[in-house]
Amino acid sequence: MIVCVTMNPALDKTAALTRLVPGALNRLRHVRVDAGGKGVNVSGMAAVLGGASVCTGFVGGETGRELLRRLEARGLAHDFLTVAGATRTNLKVLDGENRLTELNEPGPGVTDAEVAALLEKTHALARRGDVVVLSGSLPPGAGVDTYRLFAGTLRAAGCRVIVDADGEPFRRALEAPPHVVKPNRFELLQYGGLPSDTPNECLPALCRSLLGKGIEWVVLSMGRDGAMFFTGQRAVWATAPPVEAHSAVGAGDSMVGAIACALQTGFGFEETVRLAMAASLGAVTTQGTQPPALALVNKWKAQIEMRPV
Ligand SMILES: Nc1ncnc2c1ncn2[C@@H]1O[C@H](COP(=O)(O)OP(=O)(O)OP(=O)(O)O)[C@@H](O)[C@H]1O
Ligand SMILES: [Mg+2]
Repeated sequence: MIVCVTMNPALDKTAALTRLVPGALNRLRHVRVDAGGKGVNVSGMAAVLGGASVCTGFVGGETGRELLRRLEARGLAHDFLTVAGATRTNLKVLDGENRLTELNEPGPGVTDAEVAALLEKTHALARRGDVVVLSGSLPPGAGVDTYRLFAGTLRAAGCRVIVDADGEPFRRALEAPPHVVKPNRFELLQYGGLPSDTPNECLPALCRSLLGKGIEWVVLSMGRDGAMFFTGQRAVWATAPPVEAHSAVGAGDSMVGAIACALQTGFGFEETVRLAMAASLGAVTTQGTQPPALALVNKWKAQIEMRPV
C-alpha cells in the first residue's frame, strides 16, 4: 500500500483567458475543477501503474466534500480527517501564451491535536514495509517540524517514507531521515543556499551530501534537463528526447508516484529510474492535470537514457 499524505489539499479551478490584465475585470472561460494536491497526483499516477494507494490528510467544509466526491469518481481510495475550516480552492489561470498564473489560498488552519490525530491515522493506514509519501505545503497551524515528526515516526514503524517538500519543513524532514527525497532544481538550490544560475554539473555534490544524512535515494528533478538519481551504490543523470511539453504541472508528482510504486514492487535501480522518468514524461506530454495513460508511460520507458554522474 502507498499512503499519500496531503495536509493541505485543494480543489483546483483551472480557467483560460486570452490575456490576464492586473487591475481590470478579467472574464474567465473553460473553467474546470479537479481534485488537487500533490498526494492526490501521486495517488493518481500510482493507480495508472497498478499500485494500490490511499489518500489521507485534512479536509473540511463543502469544498472538502466535493474533493472527496471527485476522488471517488476517479476510483481513488481516501481516508481523510475532517477539520473545522473549509478545504481551499486554488485558481490557476492559463493565458493565450500558455502562461500559468496561480492564486493559491492558504487553506484551513489545523491544531496540534489534529496534526497528532493525522499522524495516528497515517500510522494505522500504513503497515510495516508500506510506502508513505509526504508531499506539498503544510496548512496554517502545522509546525515546521511536522514532516520530520511524521517521517521519523513512520520510519521507526518500518514504513518507507518519501518526502517531496521545500523550505524549512524539507530541511527539518531530512533529519528523520526519509528513505527518498525528490527536490526539484529550485528546491535544492534553496536548500543549499546556491544562486539560481548554478550549473547542473555542480549539483551532484550537494545531492551526495544528502545521502550522507542516511537518505537512501536522492532524486533531483530538473524539468526539461531530466533528473539525477543517487543511491549509495549508483548515480545517473537520466534524460529523454526533447518533447513538446503540454503541461509540466504535476510532472514531479508523477515521478514521485512512480518511485513509490517502484519501491513497493521492489524494482532495482535502473528499472526505478526508467519508470520515474517515463511517468514524468507521460505527465508532461498529457494535456491538463490528469495522469498519463499507461501505454504512454510504457512508450517513454524505452527512450530514457542514463549516464553516470
Ligand atoms: N519541459 C519538460 N520537458 C521534458 N521533461 C520534463 C519537462 N518538465 C518536466 N519534465 C520531466 O518531469 C520531471 C519532473 O519535473 P520538474 O523538475 O519540473 O518537477 P517539479 O518541479 O517537482 O514538478 P511539480 O512539483 O509541479 O510536480 C523532470 O525530471 C523531467 O523528467
Ligand atoms: Mg515538485
